[in-house]
Amino acid sequence: MKRPDRGTVRRFLIALVVLLVVIQVVRPARTNPTVDPTKTLRASGRLPADVGAIFDRACQDCHSSETRWPWYSEVAPVSWMLVHHVNDARHEYSFSTWADIAPEKKAKKLRKICEEVREGEMPLWSYLLMHPVARLSDEDKQVICDWTERMSEGTKLPGMRPARTASRERNEPHE
Ligand code: HEC
Repeated sequence: MKRPDRGTVRRFLIALVVLLVVIQVVRPARTNPTVDPTKTLRASGRLPADVGAIFDRACQDCHSSETRWPWYSEVAPVSWMLVHHVNDARHEYSFSTWADIAPEKKAKKLRKICEEVREGEMPLWSYLLMHPVARLSDEDKQVICDWTERMSEGTKLPGMRPARTASRERNEPHE
């Protein structure tokens, strides 16, 4: 194959730079909705320090209203992806609005939390790339799953039924 001549390379690079500048105009809103401190998972009094520390380190930037937006979240097209991830993640569940999740849904989310970390689906790989401290050890995963199991047993959480009962009712095989 013939190598592109210098003029072509130059024109291509200039076009690329112009494109990168132009797309900066599209700035999706990076939000951190006000946190009602009475509604957070911490406020439920059922978050042990070790589990909380893992969530702060590995999940909070997406699954809460307390996102620490990095500098590159200002730069398109990365900003588009990050805002999308955070909005999606908060929509799935947020530690900041934990009290608003219906008990039935909570049981399901808890089961999912254990599942997603066990399978290595969460935290997202793209997040791990920039936040290596968010990587979870097998021990971290065990701490999370033990906690979700205890939470699902729900003796203290009003209206929460054991996760096992819920899955049997929907005719899903459990584990
Ligand atoms: C970089 C952002 C990001 C981080 C960090 C992150 N998540 Fe997520 N999470 C998402 C997004 C986006 C979704 C929705 C799309 C999907 O499921 O992939 C999601 C979905 C989920 C779901 C699925 C909910 C459902 O009902 O299907 C669970 C559970 C979850 N995350 C748990 C966690 C846990 C636990 C951590 C920390 C160990 C974590 N996530 C860290 C972005 C993130």
